[in-house]
Amino acid sequence: MSVPATATTDTLRREVDRRRTFAIISHPDAGKTTLTEKTLLYAGAIELAGAVKGRASQRHVVSDWMDIERERGISITSAALEFELHGRHVTLLDTPGHKDFSEDTYRTLLAVDSVVMVIDAAKGIEAQTRKLFEVARRRHLPMLTFVNKLDLPGRDPLDLLDEIERVLGVSAAPMNWPIGTGDRFKGVYDLRTQEVLFYERRPGGARRAPVVVTGAEDPALADLIGVDARRELLDGVHLLQAAGTAFDREAYREARQTPVFFGSALANFGLESFLQALADHAPPPQPRESDDGTVIEPTRSDFSGFVFKIQANMNPRHRDRVAFVRVCSGVMTKDMQVTNTRLQQPVRLSRPHRFFGRDRETVEAAYPGDVVGLVNPGRFGIGDTLYAGTPVRYPPIPNFPAEHFGALRLQDVRFKQFDEGVRQLEEEGLMQVVFPSHGARYPILGVVGALQFDIVEARLRDEYGVACRVDKLSYVAARWVQGDADARLTLPNSVLSTTDRRGRRVLLFPSEWDLQYCERENPSVQLLAMA
Ligand code: G4P
Repeated sequence: MSVPATATTDTLRREVDRRRTFAIISHPDAGKTTLTEKTLLYAGAIELAGAVKGRASQRHVVSDWMDIERERGISITSAALEFELHGRHVTLLDTPGHKDFSEDTYRTLLAVDSVVMVIDAAKGIEAQTRKLFEVARRRHLPMLTFVNKLDLPGRDPLDLLDEIERVLGVSAAPMNWPIGTGDRFKGVYDLRTQEVLFYERRPGGARRAPVVVTGAEDPALADLIGVDARRELLDGVHLLQAAGTAFDREAYREARQTPVFFGSALANFGLESFLQALADHAPPPQPRESDDGTVIEPTRSDFSGFVFKIQANMNPRHRDRVAFVRVCSGVMTKDMQVTNTRLQQPVRLSRPHRFFGRDRETVEAAYPGDVVGLVNPGRFGIGDTLYAGTPVRYPPIPNFPAEHFGALRLQDVRFKQFDEGVRQLEEEGLMQVVFPSHGARYPILGVVGALQFDIVEARLRDEYGVACRVDKLSYVAARWVQGDADARLTLPNSVLSTTDRRGRRVLLFPSEWDLQYCERENPSVQLLAMA
């Protein structure tokens, strides 16, 4: 018996409403992994404290699985974690947070509807957070902020709020306020519920229950936290009342304001109200514009989605390639026949998977906001749109500007495998590849984070059996030449002329100065950072 269309529409609407898909952005060591772990524990998605990771003790994040990650104790590839939280179906996409990061990190931000920014209370906004924030800003992604490590000495909270506003250009609305810092850290005062949440360790991990006071003025506070701490808290709250920003849900949803929570992921402190806010306020799957400007609503009945990531060798036991699809509209079901817009070919989704770190399970139905892995027989590329019913094409995923370049040298004679390996890794989006326009045609790799070079070497060796070496080159930027293709350009000798696989001209610059010089000297062409 077929299901009536209205029942299907109702289910779709309900499932869309329930979904929250987000990523965490942070600088290495700010506490992203710990926050992920505690969130999963809180949500009951993992059973054991510390099962996610302990860097020193060699325990690993659920999403850490490649050897190279294990060797270095970092998470390189982003995996999707799914769990239920306060009645929401949450998908957390892991953005690798190590020092060098990759295009994968950027692309992940194209597949989420909001972000959480974790900052270290002692350090404030650091370089990588800023870069990731820029990508999130371009997409107008709403952002919640978690200021972490309140149990350690940190910077003045007002100073941190000011830095968020100044450096990132969004207003910052504190949701709670720390009482003391470091050794004198007593807890936080919830500015909305007027609760004092005590920070203290009790035997067996027990906690004192939060106490509701009538406000920061409540004399009872002196008994609870001490006279000095109360005075400090009062000063802070008065300042906030006079000049601070109050939480405004609409401003958050429009990415004009970030609600800020203070806490400690490690001590599991201040997480509850933060996660409650995530469940209450983070947006459900949003409509997306297709390539021709049509707005595709998530509740549209026809399935559509796009591939934002391709990963080979997910599991050494299954030597396969997985394409990760973000569902944008409709319902994706197992065995469904869809079309890949780029190839204009039908594909049957016979093995859609859901991943939880190393584990995978077959998915019967996936809804907008969900991320599904398709075992990829080479038929999916990054940015491909898949649809059923009415055709749709989502805009292509841009290349992000590479910052490190290296010549890839083959160390043996397995040319065919070498060529195939380089092509496939390029298709996966692991690196950009160009070839010198003159002389020997060896591949030059462009990557966002230099660690990618090690990964390329390791994967060519392990998966394609070819020995290669990347010799670092001293270029700092690549630009695609647009405009008059035959223009004779005025270029210093230090600039290398190359072409990409599609025959487009790409210039590599050894310094920002050279780049600016070339822009000035060649006004008839445009030099584009992204292809
Ligand atoms: P990341 O994923 O953003 O790189 O950060 P991660 O969670 O790995 O945290 C970096 C270090 O900071 C870890 O210590 C972690 O235990 C610690 N940390 C995270 N949150 C807090 C917090 O709220 N308070 C304190 N005091 N420390 C915190 P590590 O020694 O480098 O690693 P591990 O051996 O503890 O895993």
